[in-house]
Amino acid sequence: MVERIKARTLRKRVLKRIAFVDVKPVEAPRRIVQLVVKDPKLIEEVDKLDMQDLIEAEVERVGEDLVVKSLKVLFKNLEPFPIAKKEHGPDFLLRMRHLAIRGIRYPKIFYVEHVVTWSAIKHLVDEGRKRVHPPLIIASATEGGAILFPVDRFGERKFFLSESAQLYLEAMIFALGKVFSLTTSSRMEKSRTRRHLAEFRHLEAEAADYGFEDILDAQERLVKAIVRGVLEDEDASEIVKEFRGKRMDELDRLLKEKFPRITYDEAIEILRKKGVDIKRGDDLGADEERILTEDFEVPVFVTLYPTEQKAFYVKRVPDRPEVCYSADLMLPRYGEITTGGEREDDYYKLLEEIKRRGLKPEDYRRYLDLRKYGSIRHSGYGLGIERFVHRLLDLEHIRDATPFPRFYGRSTFV
Ligand code: 4AD
Ligand code: MG
Repeated sequence: MVERIKARTLRKRVLKRIAFVDVKPVEAPRRIVQLVVKDPKLIEEVDKLDMQDLIEAEVERVGEDLVVKSLKVLFKNLEPFPIAKKEHGPDFLLRMRHLAIRGIRYPKIFYVEHVVTWSAIKHLVDEGRKRVHPPLIIASATEGGAILFPVDRFGERKFFLSESAQLYLEAMIFALGKVFSLTTSSRMEKSRTRRHLAEFRHLEAEAADYGFEDILDAQERLVKAIVRGVLEDEDASEIVKEFRGKRMDELDRLLKEKFPRITYDEAIEILRKKGVDIKRGDDLGADEERILTEDFEVPVFVTLYPTEQKAFYVKRVPDRPEVCYSADLMLPRYGEITTGGEREDDYYKLLEEIKRRGLKPEDYRRYLDLRKYGSIRHSGYGLGIERFVHRLLDLEHIRDATPFPRFYGRSTFV
């Protein structure tokens, strides 16, 4: 049976009597199909093909082989494809991202990212959560002012790009109960670590009538649903296997075991025992988180952080106000993948905290209104999609988990 295939050439090997062309079908460019060419005229044609030319071929299956019967070049490169087989430096490849994503590796990463995102959304919708669409242009900080990207000349006031949709989701729970959003968060963090981007895809959820334990449980269900979704997708699980080598049992354990929960104080103790010079009240940075999670085989929640380390909106523990209902979920040998917790729902306490931190109550009038008019206990979290993919695929750098990365120290964007 003769089939027609439209595809992009990836590489070729031309011998005297036979040629092999690896192509990526237009419909599924992450798959590589090998075509075999035996006709001397067609071998000549193949010899002229450049990487990434678009071809249309009639092929016949002969045993294992797809033998080319006819070949037409639909779009020929106007110049030789700039990314050759030879090793290129990271800077060149970043400048060429728009073309590099046609390669072999990136399509696999972005396919897994698609399955991760879709599994998360499907899980949340199946649990009855409603997807909402918060704005990206904001007037006041959610997490802290220093990291906001200013939006120039938008009206008379200064505006910023959103770094979290949380404050808007908190308003939306009064409309829809349990909500989530997937937006792009921007942060001018000058940390050039392997897990920070200046722009990342942020999955955030907020739930009315939810306490601290409820939101930890919800995050555990979400992470398990994402991993299950990836493992159940044949292609995605193949790719994960390929990228992670043999380390798949970790994912099976993640699905079976309950995620341990330790307090911040216990985390400090563990770190001290491991010889880290740290004391209560200190921040857990990327290094500390990695060391802390080394001994855990499954993700672990670190709970009850010092109030001073977390944002103004987190509810304090009533009989221990120096700590608050905030938790980070950490992946083994990696660290933070989510932050979440219970929000302060009392008008007066929230107002006092805003003032105490030197923030302006008038900037948070709408946020305070949520407590002024029939408040409710509520909780939420945020998960970074690129971080998840970074760790799931054991990528060298989080930059590779997004097609067009923005990060500190690079101002020429593709
Ligand atoms: O811990 P973060 O800053 O928490 C919030 O923004 C809360 N307002 C979320 C909420 O409760 N709705 O960010 C949440 C997650 C982090 O755990 C991390 O996975 C990811 O977002 N993240 C980043 N990912 C890549 N690059 C960055 N610069 C990131 N900053 C945060
Ligand atoms: Mg955090």
